[in-house]
Amino acid sequence: MQTRTSSSFVPRYRQLAEQIRRSIESGELPPGSRLPSSRVLAQEQGVSRATVENALGELVAQGWLERRSRSGTYVSAALSTRPVRPLQKGADRRHPAPLPFQPGLPALDAFPRGLWARVMGRRLRQQSRFDLALPDPAGNWGLRQAIADWLRFSRSIDCRPEQVFIAAGYPMVMTLLLRALARQGDGIWVEDPGYPFIRPVLEQNGLRLNPVPVDGEGMVIDEAIRRYPGARFALLTPAHQSPLGVALAASRRRQLLAWAVQRDAWIIEDDYDSEFRYQGRPLPPLKSLDAPRRVIYAGTFSKTLFPALRCGWLVVPEEVTNAFAEQSVLTPCSVPPLIQLAISDFIGEGHFWRHLKKMRQIYTQRRRWLEQALAEQGFPVVPQAGGIQLLMPVTGDDRTAAARARDAGLAVEALGAWRLESQGEGGLIMSFTNITSARHAEELAARLHRALL
Ligand SMILES: Cc1ncc(COP(=O)(O)O)c(C=O)c1O
Repeated sequence: MQTRTSSSFVPRYRQLAEQIRRSIESGELPPGSRLPSSRVLAQEQGVSRATVENALGELVAQGWLERRSRSGTYVSAALSTRPVRPLQKGADRRHPAPLPFQPGLPALDAFPRGLWARVMGRRLRQQSRFDLALPDPAGNWGLRQAIADWLRFSRSIDCRPEQVFIAAGYPMVMTLLLRALARQGDGIWVEDPGYPFIRPVLEQNGLRLNPVPVDGEGMVIDEAIRRYPGARFALLTPAHQSPLGVALAASRRRQLLAWAVQRDAWIIEDDYDSEFRYQGRPLPPLKSLDAPRRVIYAGTFSKTLFPALRCGWLVVPEEVTNAFAEQSVLTPCSVPPLIQLAISDFIGEGHFWRHLKKMRQIYTQRRRWLEQALAEQGFPVVPQAGGIQLLMPVTGDDRTAAARARDAGLAVEALGAWRLESQGEGGLIMSFTNITSARHAEELAARLHRALL
């Protein structure tokens, strides 16, 4: 970091804070890097430790830095000012260091890493020699039990651990499902707009995408039946449509189930973020109404814990548990057993529940900060009842707007890039989860405003 003295009237701690911020912006101090101790910084800069502490405190409040208890002060991992390559295919969404607004990312600063390390460490120390053998290809039994118990308690889904299959994230969850049930050329209804990163997985597994529009009541089932009556799968996000945020209306749920029964089709319920809900009560999951047993429920720990776990799961109807068990031998669960055991302890010991409770409060606050900051810049926001991202309508070409924002280091995604054939308003999809203060939100909203001018 360059040192610089100034004789201006700006207080010394402000000058120092500004200097550190510039070093972060220029990339000299990259996201996740550790700052020297305040004693060393004070010596380097020829100022008192109190001045250093004031400067660091200001940058922490603004979200530039984060403190990790005992190990020091770091450049916020969720920050980066490097321009992002334009969004192309699925893999390009993933960057080594997450950028502000990165959709799909939970609050990385709020995850209890110390607690997680204790839970993992205990499991590691307790390993017996039998734990070194081949794991269950369908997933660890203890975790399957913990997920079944959790779903009964939190989502009124009645299932047994035999019906739960664990896989390394949504793409592998879907691969297992399709290898167990699909045939080449089967049609699959997909939401339009909808989560684009799973489409290549569907296509690679030989499915034909049948885009279905989404309106204020979710996927338009009438139109799906009219256009693609012979589809064998319907993939949708009924609790909180990704990315529009609407819930699938009760009448459409009934219609969808009736179609599946009549056609022997499978409904895949992607319940990726329903744990986060800020207004009103959610409708029960389709799976909890699945008397005819046509619903396969897909969940993930990516939002509730963290995405690096690469751990998702399926709950499948009893009739097909054997087909899944057989297929899992050929598509075995590759989530490391130690991680699976740690997650099951985390759930079983009540940490999961407490973590979610804390995160709902944090997200309520962070969401409000971003909504207010965007409103102050004159940006409209579509209020959503839940989830971990916002949709900001834009007039004109949203792909150009998103590209400009990404050039300014902001990882927004264009709603247009999530569409297949539907036309409609443009928008920017953005997450609020890693915004750590009102100042931070204001700074990011101002940066977005400058980028879109
Ligand atoms: C709509 C949707 N489904 C599922 C997932 C889960 O994906 P994964 O398990 O690969 O993190 C996500 C994550 O962003 C998502 O947005």
